[in-house]
This record gives sequence, structure tokens and C-alpha cells, in this order.
Amino acid sequence: MKIAVFPGSFDPLTKGHEEIIRKAVALFDVVYVAIGENAAKHCMFDLERRLQWIRQVFADEPRVKTCTYAGLTVDFCKRMGASYIVRGLRNSIDFQYEKDIAEANKQLVPEIETVFFASSPELAHVSSSLVRELYHHQADYSKYVSFEL
Ligand code: PNS
Repeated sequence: MKIAVFPGSFDPLTKGHEEIIRKAVALFDVVYVAIGENAAKHCMFDLERRLQWIRQVFADEPRVKTCTYAGLTVDFCKRMGASYIVRGLRNSIDFQYEKDIAEANKQLVPEIETVFFASSPELAHVSSSLVRELYHHQADYSKYVSFEL
């Protein structure tokens, strides 16, 4: 069984995240979409709503499982028996940042490999922060999110 973890804040889940999850589930047997609880990071949407949205979007895909975790992503991977961490790349800025995190995770647990999926050009400008900004200003965010916030 090839088990992967896609960690993130998902504040909220965007169509960009959805694309990455669909690409990942084509390659892995199980993908845990895992909301990392970060005490230092204040999220706009509470944990339960973020979980529910992911469950709603992937209700038709039993191999996508949704959960939360605290602590290091690699420790969560070990608990779930996952050998892969999935991350999405939109541009070279993401790559620079993600490469360093992947290397840090590799130093912590060499057996866990980070696998990157490139987002399609149509979704490369989409981010949770963009959606939060639109939502805050009561602007239309429906192009970027598959559910009502
Ligand atoms: O949606 P984000 O903000 O990109 O997700 C961030 C997340 C949850 C993936 C990140 O904060 C994280 O991995 N937190 C757990 C701590 C950790 O393992 N850090 C990397 C190694 S130092």
C-alpha cells in the first residue's frame, strides 16, 4: 500500500488543493489530507469547518481520508504508516520554500519522501489567502472554492 499525507492548513481548501489531491490519489492508494494544528498560526475558519469542507468535496473518494494532527508532519506520517508527503507547487517561490522543508523533513526521517505535484497554469495564482481576502471583502470567491464559506 502506498500511503501519502498531504499536510496543510486548508484555510480554506481551494480548487488548487483539490487538483493536487486528485493527482495524488491517482498515484497513491490512500491520501490523508491532514490539517496541521499550529498554535502559532491563527486561522480564519475553525478546524471543524475546514475538516467538513474537505470531507464534503471528497465524499465520493473513499481513498481520500481527512484528519488533523499536532506536532511534526513526519511524526504524523510515521503514525499513519505513510512513506510520502505530498505538496503542491504553483511557482518557483513555492519550490524554493518547499525544497527546504522537504530537506528538513528528510533529515528528520530519511525514509519519508516528499513528492511534488505542479498545479495547472489556470490554478497557479490560487491560494487560501486570496480566498480569505475575497471573502473578507464580500467579493466573489466561487471560482476558487467548490463550496460556500
Ligand atoms: O497550508 P500550509 O500553511 O502550507 O501548511 C503548513 C503545514 C501544516 C504543512 C506546516 O505548518 C507543517 O508542516 N507543520 C508541522 C510542523 C512541521 O513538521 N514542520 C516542518 C519540519 S520543521
